Amino acid sequence: MIERCQGNIRPKSGPRARTAVVLAAAGLLAVTTAAFLPGTASAGTTLGASAAERGRYFGTAVAANKLSDNTYATILNREFNSVTPENEMKIDATEPQQGQFSYGAADQIVNHARSRGMQVRGHTLAWHSQQPGWMQNMSGSALRQAMLNHVTQVATHFRGQVVAWDVVNEAFADGSSGARRDSNLQRTGNDWIEAAFRAARAADPGAKLCYNDYNTDDWTHAKTQAVYNLVRDFKQRGVPIDCVGLQSHFNSGSPYPGNYRTTLSNFAALGVDVQITELDIEGAPAATYRNVVQDCLAVSRCTGITVWGIRDTDSWRASQNPLLFTGSGAKKPAYDAVLAALNGGSTPPTTGPPTPPPGGGCTATLRDATRWSDRFNSEVTVSGASNWTVVVAVTPPQKISSTWNGTPSWDTSGNVMTMRSNGSGNVFGFTTMANGTWTRPQVRSCTAS
Ligand code: G3I
Repeated sequence: MIERCQGNIRPKSGPRARTAVVLAAAGLLAVTTAAFLPGTASAGTTLGASAAERGRYFGTAVAANKLSDNTYATILNREFNSVTPENEMKIDATEPQQGQFSYGAADQIVNHARSRGMQVRGHTLAWHSQQPGWMQNMSGSALRQAMLNHVTQVATHFRGQVVAWDVVNEAFADGSSGARRDSNLQRTGNDWIEAAFRAARAADPGAKLCYNDYNTDDWTHAKTQAVYNLVRDFKQRGVPIDCVGLQSHFNSGSPYPGNYRTTLSNFAALGVDVQITELDIEGAPAATYRNVVQDCLAVSRCTGITVWGIRDTDSWRASQNPLLFTGSGAKKPAYDAVLAALNGGSTPPTTGPPTPPPGGGCTATLRDATRWSDRFNSEVTVSGASNWTVVVAVTPPQKISSTWNGTPSWDTSGNVMTMRSNGSGNVFGFTTMANGTWTRPQVRSCTAS
């Protein structure tokens, strides 16, 4: 699985160059002498842990003003390993006046998440909705420039902190036309989407860049086909795109489709990750939630699921009771179905690399290797450079106990390793002590040197 490349994160090497790290031969020794226990861990008891055991994340939308709600924060911290700010990264929140950026609420969520080992999905950089008044009133080249500046500024602010960005949200029309949605952004020219993606890549070369939309779940729908064609075109022309987000708001008017798995796998076959980004289901039928999870697990590049809120009362559609927890924070049958599906799921995903950043660099692909009851090995393959520096992060309380085929150094936390090539080739490896957490390590950057 390729994780991220966050070029600005530069862990300090030095004092904690760890005695626990054993290079080449000793690393191999650790592998060969470790007890060869069955490669399974016990079934997870939370959504995040169970998803992590399948190499996925399980996330939720989070509202900053609810973090002080004890019931809310308790469930969030216990169950989820990914977070999407529900409104706090939107254009009206982050640039309320042109050129004046406001990150307080978004930073609060990011800090809450990252300090607890959760990853962050960024939502969203360019959207026709929730534009501040000044942007709503703009058009033409001035709007195009303002949009690109917004993308650049916000992606730069969160560089290294956001694993994936919904770069563009909801740019296609509903119905049978398959056309772009009319909006002030669309009227700046049909290339506004790719311009936004290029600006996002330049600002944060390590973040996965997603196109995100709703009513794109049914493979036969014109809107699904239109998004598919956009992604295929971007891949063919080298426009940077790494993932597609299916919001998956299901209800009686827009039900879970029987061909959902086909949609997921067809997008994945284009060479992008697929993420279920805003899942909620009217009435929260357990069987439908289970189907969604099983569909994701069946598609190797379906890398994670985010539900759009924690308790029913937190939902934008609260009257539909569409989520996994009741208003008082109790687990619903849908929760049990999701957890069981995650625990009975299939193999970890293999994901492709983000499109390499322009102007060089390299790509680092992480894959799962041997797993024991208390630790696991990962292998990273580097392409595009023979002299390279790769930054890898593990999730506390995980600790890297040995490495091979590279020269490591560490940041002060001990959780971020900078590995430099040492003439041993382009594949290095390391052993992570799980300490109860099986989240896959993340590649944060790959730099040619
Ligand atoms: O915070 C203000 C509050 O101070 C004010 O009193 C109140 C009255 O208008 O509004 C509050 O803000 C609301 C905000 O949610 C926070 O609750 C906004 O009006 C309201 O428009 C906003 O709705 C959000 C909606 O996006 C806006 O388009 C929902 O929370 C959010 O869940 C929803 O999320 C979207 C995704 O971004 C994209 N996909 C669809 C999804 C559901 O609509």
